Amino acid sequence: MRYKINPFVCSLTIGLLATALFSTGCNKSEPAGQPSSGAEKKAKSTYTIGMSQCNLGEPWRVEMNAQIKAAADKHPNLKVVFKDAQNDTLKQRSHVEEFVSAGADLIIISPKEAQPLTEPVAKAMAAGIPVIVLDRRLLGTNFTCFIGADNKKIGRAAGEWIVKKLGGKGKVVELKGLMTSTPGQDRDSGFREGVAGSGLDIIFEADMKWLEPDARKEMESALSRFNKIHCVYAHNDPGAHGAYLAAKAAGREKEMLFVGIDALPQEGVVYVQQGVMDATFQYPTGGAEAIDTALKILTGEPVPKEITLGSRVFDKGNVAQGGQELK
Ligand code: FRU
Repeated sequence: MRYKINPFVCSLTIGLLATALFSTGCNKSEPAGQPSSGAEKKAKSTYTIGMSQCNLGEPWRVEMNAQIKAAADKHPNLKVVFKDAQNDTLKQRSHVEEFVSAGADLIIISPKEAQPLTEPVAKAMAAGIPVIVLDRRLLGTNFTCFIGADNKKIGRAAGEWIVKKLGGKGKVVELKGLMTSTPGQDRDSGFREGVAGSGLDIIFEADMKWLEPDARKEMESALSRFNKIHCVYAHNDPGAHGAYLAAKAAGREKEMLFVGIDALPQEGVVYVQQGVMDATFQYPTGGAEAIDTALKILTGEPVPKEITLGSRVFDKGNVAQGGQELK
């Protein structure tokens, strides 16, 4: 029944609401138009994208936002409003709801957890706002496009790399990412597939929630329980680095290999160059691809439901050559 609403009053109200909401806790403040059909969107001179980031405490997420900003800055008709949920799922839910009330033209979300963020995204979709989900998945398929690398494949490749390096047997510590997030689940199940049938023994496993200090603490327990560890497989590079620091403090860092995931040029790749870590598997942030896809959606071009990003492995043997692509 939208045609019965006075369009001037409606856009004025929504415009005021948008101004109020987009100026709270955001990097850039831009009034957004009301949620509109594709045809109306084509006529707009500026599009406002709401970007909900689950936290900015980790270098990988800072990099994702930087890539989004750099890509968006090339398009004067795009304004991105960033919100940081500080690793708080409830805060992230409210941020998505705020973008909807403010009438964002499109939402990009990199969710902390799958289940609790599924509903607010479904509500945004119901309000006619396209949503791009980046990195961690939601439940079901009620979003416009998912962009991320194949975590199962990365986990499997890490497992196979470790089996090969250890000559098929050894004691492994697995430090998992948050197990209510899909990359944690997939990096675990892929890894288990990669080591299946080998003589590798996973002697200790713990959820370090993607956080370096938690990984360090868990590793301290592993070190105190086991007098021989051949390898640490951590679901991200901060986790592998936390484990390394614990092993170094115990004087045992030379006893074992450290393998992680992310391979940021300024983080994991440097650790491999320095010999702190033995391998890292790249997990691209997808920031540039998200803006590319957003532009297509906003201008009515079709986009795939899912965009799978590639990955590379960096180890001592190939880091100088820029790593090697995962097949
Ligand atoms: C950052 C991070 C990355 C990891 C990704 C998985 O929050 O933990 O290190 O690859 O999230 O979603």
